[in-house]
This record gives sequence, structure tokens and C-alpha cells, in this order.
Amino acid sequence: MKSEFYSKWGWIANPFILKIDPKLFTGYHQQVDAVKLHIADKHKIAMIYGPTGSGKTSMLKWLEEELHETNPILYVSKPPQNAEEFIGIFTETFGISFWQKLLRWKPSLQTLPDYINKKVNNQHLVFMVDEAHETNKEVLEWLRVLVDQIENVSLIIAGLPRLPEKIRDELETFDQRITTRIELTALEKEDTKELIKKRIEAVGGSGTVPFTDSAIDTIFTRTGGFPREVLKMCGRLVHTAMDKDLNVIEVSDIEDHREVPQSNVRVDEQVVTFSPKPPSKQQIDDLPYKQRKILEILSREDWLTPTGISERLDAKTYKSKGHAIRSTNNILHRLMIDGFVQREARGKAFMYALTPRIKILFVEK
Ligand SMILES: Nc1ncnc2c1ncn2[C@@H]1O[C@H](COP(=O)(O)OP(=O)(O)OP(=O)(O)O)[C@@H](O)[C@H]1O
Ligand SMILES: [Mg+2]
Repeated sequence: MKSEFYSKWGWIANPFILKIDPKLFTGYHQQVDAVKLHIADKHKIAMIYGPTGSGKTSMLKWLEEELHETNPILYVSKPPQNAEEFIGIFTETFGISFWQKLLRWKPSLQTLPDYINKKVNNQHLVFMVDEAHETNKEVLEWLRVLVDQIENVSLIIAGLPRLPEKIRDELETFDQRITTRIELTALEKEDTKELIKKRIEAVGGSGTVPFTDSAIDTIFTRTGGFPREVLKMCGRLVHTAMDKDLNVIEVSDIEDHREVPQSNVRVDEQVVTFSPKPPSKQQIDDLPYKQRKILEILSREDWLTPTGISERLDAKTYKSKGHAIRSTNNILHRLMIDGFVQREARGKAFMYALTPRIKILFVEK
């Protein structure tokens, strides 16, 4: 039934599976240019940070695809827990000669840079470490040593929004070596449309059919162009359309779909590995300072306006009251997309409160 359904749009599969495919990467033009320039100029350390689902891993995988013909690349999906593991990570990629094997020779941490220099041999190594917010201090120190001693290397670390703060607090000497800082937030409207189109065309469909233009507008407004949310929302809409046997996905379907309880949403097996974890205390702790502060304010008082919230924030950090309110509004928007806060229109203003799931976390805290 499922494949039959997809075939009416010429699809051979569900386009909105949460998988990472470099060919489907879209948008983030400035960020992409910045990281490419960083590598082309042979700078040493770049940092990419953004919330879960914003596309950090996608961007690294895209870079890997883009550069693998010209540069040796090493992508590490998680930082090791102890520095010794770097030896295995590098020797698995660059290999050990027959004689060295026979003599049971392996580089030590101290001789590793020398080993890498010989292997890389004047080419420029692109070394990427994902989930870098999990790096401990010892490993961070060795990363710095490696980057200092490998002659031709660009290290790109990627992690959650707390990464910049973590590095600054943990190892200043590392922080000082970061020359490019790239923040991933959300896609522009045009790129959100492009993402949907690419996904549909990749499974054999045409353009953005069956989504109408206004449906795409609504998807963008509701998700804020946040990639993982865009995919999840499109997926839900397709399932709703499937259940109702609709040929076209119109805004009215989108309104309907809000009533579809989450538990009825069919989820493909593959989705599981990439789906964001349900909000946990840890996730709140991972948020940037101001987001956390706003959640704390709302945990003490329900239903506040952005103005009310900004008055409760430390106003000294803003240039003016207008700045504070605008910034609060932006942060609230982000928090709403991530399911941390909800809002209601009351008169002319929107009032904000924590979502029930988040509220519970604060009660437990
Ligand atoms: N720029 C993009 N273009 C197209 N698809 C994207 C883009 N960014 C992210 N996606 C899609 O959104 C989903 C989430 O992206 P990704 O896993 O790269 O996020 P992440 O920032 O690494 O998240 P996490 O912190 O949870 O690891 C993936 O399914 C990916 O295919
Ligand atoms: Mg990731």
C-alpha cells in the first residue's frame, strides 16, 4: 500500500527519511563559503556550532564528499575518550607498512605527528571531529598538540551551542587558535524549498509536488527553516495525505495535521538513529546561556510577553530596550521551534509559557 501510494507521485521511497546524504545538502551558503575558505587558506582550527538537527554532521559529510578528491580527509564521528585512541584512529586511516606490522611497530602519541606528516606528505589534511562538545580536556590538549605539529592540517570541530563556551573555559590555548567560527541556525526560505525539492527529486518525484507553494510557506514559518524539523513536518504531512488519500498537500491539510496525535505518526526504522532525543535536563543544560535564562524565567512565571521577559533579563547586556526585546523574540522563536516553549495570542501580543514536558523538568530540577 505504501509503495503504491508513493508511486502516484512517482516516488520510489519516502523522501523525508532522516538520513544524511551529501548530495541533498542545501543552503548555508555563507557558512559553506567560510569553511571552504578556511581550508583553502590552510588555516588550522575552525569551529562549527549549532543546535541538534541544524545540520552540523551534514555539513561535515558534505565537505568530505566535496574535498575527498583533492585532500586526505579524516572524519571522526565522536571525539575519543582518551588521547591514546588517536593512534588507532590515524593508523586505521593511513595504514601501517608490511614491515612495521611485522615488527609490531606502531606510532606512540609522541611520534604520531611525525607519522602523520610522512603519510600526508605535503598534501593538506582535513581533520574533522564531530560531537566535539564531548571532548574532555586531555583529548583537547592532544588535539592542540597534533594540530600544532602536523604541518598541513585544518581541523574542523563541530558541536552543540555550548561548544564555544566549553572550549573557552576548558583550554584557552586551544580557543586562541580557532580562526573561523561558524554558527548554523536555520535555512532561508528559498533553501528550505530547495531542500524539499531535492529530497523529492532524489526519489523520482518532480519539483515540490505534491506540496503547494503556500504549503511550503507554512512549513517554513512553522519550522523556522530548521532542517530536521522541516523533514519531520514534511514526513508527517505526507503521512496525513496518505491516510486521507489526498493528491495535493494544501495548507488546510497542514492545519488538520496538527490534530494528528504524535503516536499515530508512522516512523521509518532508519529515523531512529537521527531523531532528537526527547528533551531532557541535559538538553536544557546544553542550551546557550540566554535560552536557558529565558526558560528559567518562564519556569517561575507562566504566560509572559517578550517585553515582560526582556525586563526580567539582565538589561545591561543590551544596547537598548528595543535590542533586548528583539533578541528575546528571536530566542523565543528558536525555543518554540525546539518545543521548549509554547505561545498564545492574547489581544495584540503573544504570551509565552513552557511546554508541559519542559515544565515537568523544571519541577524535578
Ligand atoms: N543544509 C542541509 N540541507 C539538507 N538537509 C539538511 C541540511 N542540514 C540538515 N539536514 C538534514 O536534517 C537532518 C539533521 O541534520 P544533522 O544530523 O546534520 O544535524 P546535526 O546538527 O548534526 O544534529 P546533532 O547535533 O543531533 O548531531 C538530517 O536528516 C539532514 O539530512
Ligand atoms: Mg550531528
